[in-house]
Amino acid sequence: MKSIYLVGFMGSGKTSIASALKESLHMEVQDTDDLVEKTYKQTIPEIFAKKGEKTFREYETEVLKSTNKTNAIIATGGGIIEKEENRKWLEQHGTVIFLQTSWEEIKRRLINDGSRPIWNNQDRDKKELLIQRTPKYLEVADVTIDTDGKTVEQLKNEIIGYL
Ligand code: S3P
Repeated sequence: MKSIYLVGFMGSGKTSIASALKESLHMEVQDTDDLVEKTYKQTIPEIFAKKGEKTFREYETEVLKSTNKTNAIIATGGGIIEKEENRKWLEQHGTVIFLQTSWEEIKRRLINDGSRPIWNNQDRDKKELLIQRTPKYLEVADVTIDTDGKTVEQLKNEIIGYL
């Protein structure tokens, strides 16, 4: 079976849902953010601070291509769909699930987050970023799941139902 790639904005639940799916499907889980940190031996905030977003995006593309193309669940970083190269790769290699989440819900979920460089950058308009990215998530998605007001358990079952 082709691997399942979870895409969506920061706070859409990709990591938690990947863990829940792992328990039920007994499939390996990979996370592109973890892979970047392990491969390049720096945290994501360090990479953004020392090398900038462009370098982070290059690292992200490298690790995306290194993920298992079969029998794995892969949680991706929220910006993975920014590069056309990544969108093409996802369309070709995976079953892509877009976890669509409203701006209001994202704000609620990330209210105390201090770990995401883009979310915590006061100069970035995150609402606008969500608007800009949404067509790109939709472009790669085989299925779109609305996450607002749903528990991880409910979302997991919805995804299993689709598979
Ligand atoms: C990013 C999202 C983050 C991480 C990095 C950049 C983004 O992942 O890849 O901080 O551009 O939206 P999550 O979506 O898991 O927060």
